[in-house]
Amino acid sequence: MPRQLIKRIIVTKPKRFARITTVPELRQLRRKALLAQRSVGFVPTMGALHQGHLALIRQAAKENDQVYVSIYVNPTQFGVNEDLSSYPRTWPEDQVKLQALADEFSKNESVGQITAVFMPSTKEMYPSAPPSSEIDGQGSFVTITPLSTRLEGASRPVFFRGVATVCMKLLNIVQPERVYFGQKDIQQTFVVKRMVQDFHLGTVVRVGSTIREPDGLAMSSRNVYLGERRRAIALVLLDSFKEVQQVFARGARKRRYLYNAAMDKLSLVRKQQEALPKGKRALFEIDYISIADPDTLEELDEVTAERGAILSGAIKMLPVEDPQEGEDTGLGGGKSTVRLIDNIRLNLLSAKVGYIP
Ligand code: PAJ
Repeated sequence: MPRQLIKRIIVTKPKRFARITTVPELRQLRRKALLAQRSVGFVPTMGALHQGHLALIRQAAKENDQVYVSIYVNPTQFGVNEDLSSYPRTWPEDQVKLQALADEFSKNESVGQITAVFMPSTKEMYPSAPPSSEIDGQGSFVTITPLSTRLEGASRPVFFRGVATVCMKLLNIVQPERVYFGQKDIQQTFVVKRMVQDFHLGTVVRVGSTIREPDGLAMSSRNVYLGERRRAIALVLLDSFKEVQQVFARGARKRRYLYNAAMDKLSLVRKQQEALPKGKRALFEIDYISIADPDTLEELDEVTAERGAILSGAIKMLPVEDPQEGEDTGLGGGKSTVRLIDNIRLNLLSAKVGYIP
């Protein structure tokens, strides 16, 4: 292509993305993309964007002409006692981050562009009834069982019903060629893949790797609630996975050895914390540790070296006790419980190098 023409394309590539709040507006834009034979990659989020989200948007821009991002804090995936009202909402900051990415993309002719950010109201997303977060609540829901009842679903019974329902709505609205999810929420990727397969949705599910802080903590919109004391021991979950990797590398294959390696580490750190004075310690509860099949997410009794496993878990960091003068207790003053989840692929390669980010 002549140089001048390339330059013109770069210069004329629009940098601004449309901010869309209604379904008809979004459909109109999507129809234009279809007629112009532009591929669409879609990244659903609940906002409070961090590098984990941005990495998915970058991946989507590499693989598609247009990227649509949604920001919607979906009420049906929060249980009645969960943090829906306090979930971080940071649209001004999100907008700046998206604009910076859009500018970056507009200077690179080999990637697509951020075309639209979809920020619907709850009335728009749930048109016929106020959405329910009750376990036996009424409404139009998508349920994917038994996948949704295990692990995360065991602690959060309405969570995957809400996720599947909102993702079904979003996928019906956007109809992307590809949709992007993070490995950080590994079970969510399984639920969505199963839904796409079982309901014949015409989209390809792409999974981006977990983005971590320099010390290894998986990035999460909820990390802002930790504060320094809880942040200092938040790596305990990943550390417990590393213990499992070590016994796996030494030849352990049976579930109980692998499981105990994680539990021993978690219990040890918990005991150490319990022994500290209230003003210094950070207590946590262990929610679950799972060693599951990489294709079905079913619990394994034995892990083979060839197939490996998905090692995942969750802990609940309990509220900060006896906050000290001048202590950074995190957003919300350390009053809320913060649930942390993480997972790694357990195989001989990951065991050799420590976790694979
Ligand atoms: P949210 O927590 O905002 O996450 C949006 C996407 O970013 C998800 O696919 C999630 O797995 C991914 N993500 C979060 N942290 C990440 C990290 N550290 N590394 C890589 N990817 C990461 O997940 C949801 O929202 C919602 O359930 C949603 C799918 C939007 C439905 O409401």
